Amino acid sequence: MSGVTCSAGAALPPRRRALRLPGRLDLAPVDDRNFAACERVGQAIDAMVAGWLASRGYDRLFVTLATPDFAKGLSALVRSLRTVSDVPVLILTQGNFVPDVEADDVAFLEVPPLLRLGHTFPADAQHLAVTLSKLWVFSLTRPARVVFIDADCLVLQPIDDLFDGEDFAAVPDLFINYETPAFNAGVFAFTPSAEISRGLFQRLPELSVGDGDQGILNAFFPNWRQLPQGFNFLRAHALVRAQARDQALRIVHYTPAKPWLPAPVSPRDPVLAPLDELWTERLTPVEHVALVRDWRARLATAETNIASWMGPDAAKLRQDDMGFADGRKRRRHERRLKCWLGALVVLQVVQASFLAWLLLHQANAWK
Ligand code: GLC
Ligand code: MN
Repeated sequence: MSGVTCSAGAALPPRRRALRLPGRLDLAPVDDRNFAACERVGQAIDAMVAGWLASRGYDRLFVTLATPDFAKGLSALVRSLRTVSDVPVLILTQGNFVPDVEADDVAFLEVPPLLRLGHTFPADAQHLAVTLSKLWVFSLTRPARVVFIDADCLVLQPIDDLFDGEDFAAVPDLFINYETPAFNAGVFAFTPSAEISRGLFQRLPELSVGDGDQGILNAFFPNWRQLPQGFNFLRAHALVRAQARDQALRIVHYTPAKPWLPAPVSPRDPVLAPLDELWTERLTPVEHVALVRDWRARLATAETNIASWMGPDAAKLRQDDMGFADGRKRRRHERRLKCWLGALVVLQVVQASFLAWLLLHQANAWK
């Protein structure tokens, strides 16, 4: 494709869309206790990714996992990553999702859901189910090193030094309450191998899925290397927010509150608003408009829901509220009050005149 010319005459670089990796996987859900199925899908993923990476001339790789509800986070993540690194990015997708991402050396691959069939997550933890699919990243055996980053992260500074080392490295999660110090699974680096891949998928059946991938990975990698907090600064770290000033922030991880949602999944700490603004400032004008459109639509839906919850009187109540809100109803009340007062004054005057007339009349009679 040739370069697009803008009005000033300068040629803009051509738009590069994320590449769909050629070939298709069987997308039927895979039970994580079925080692043979995990291995079959894993080997297919490994081969597809190895082919693409070799064609790009790289042996290191960033990987993320994205579903449609994380689309806005994903665009911001990939763009932020591209401003600090040239390393290829692989997006594992789910739900027939085509990422709207424009950057060099970015590819996506739809992977089947990896699930503990029969396990039900509680109503407030449904989101954990999809995180098991993150484990497909361990089916890679050929890249020299892989860095996984959640799609609700924003990269602020260069992070290619995460590719240094051989071991599994991650950042402590200061809020989870495991028996031993645990890491957050939003950002981690590892050196892929057939041993790790086979070992993890073989052990999956005995590992608890209750905390999503994070519990599994903490159980599987007990000897993890601790990375500085700034490599995965959790938005939830309100209690340690002073660190946000002191730490060299490299990656902000928007968990649990997402900056692209108006109604947070957990209360927002207003002191952390600047972290959300860091995200908003990275949006393109088009994304900004899309975000406002999305929030307006959500508001409209909320208003419709409120109206339907209020039942048949909703329209009248709403009209009353609006009347009060814009002062119409208050002014009508004032006008009515003035009328009554006026009538009262007239009545008093009539009454007083009548009394005066009566007195005069009596006085004349007595003369
Ligand atoms: C936490 C982590 C996230 C992980 C999830 C499920 O929310 O931040 O990366 O996927 O737990 O374990
Ligand atoms: Mn996350």
